[in-house]
Amino acid sequence: MAFQNHLFVLFFLAFNFLSTTTILASPHTVVLDIRNDLPNNNLGDLTIDCNHLSPSHIKVGVHYNQTFQLNEINVECYAMWSRYFLIWNGFQAKRDGGHSIIYWSVREDGFYHSFDASHYKLLEKWETE
Ligand SMILES: *[C@@H]1O[C@H](CO)[C@@H](O)[C@H](O)[C@H]1NC(C)=O
Repeated sequence: MAFQNHLFVLFFLAFNFLSTTTILASPHTVVLDIRNDLPNNNLGDLTIDCNHLSPSHIKVGVHYNQTFQLNEINVECYAMWSRYFLIWNGFQAKRDGGHSIIYWSVREDGFYHSFDASHYKLLEKWETE
């Protein structure tokens, strides 16, 4: 019985070691590529700020490209355009884990998410006061 218990502890330790190395081997950075696809009117630039770096003012057709260290599970972003705003997860481990680039297209009706910059899905909508 004692031998079996030792064996169990050994397997337990080995399993923990393996799962830790798997986590360490997974990508440590992610690029958020957020494109301003808003209509070209006079409502002003799109403001993006992820993980409280510093606000960027993005013109129509321009990308916000930023690399993030994945120390935390999610990258929280803030967007503002005219009287519209949104706080959302630019990167979310559960949804985006394993992908090294996350694409967003910001449009008048909301925030479109993509892994390949061609198939987009509306995931978030603008909020207003
Ligand atoms: C960043 O922006 C440029 C356009 O300015 C784009 O061509 C490029 O693919 C973007 N994305 C990444 C991940 O570098």
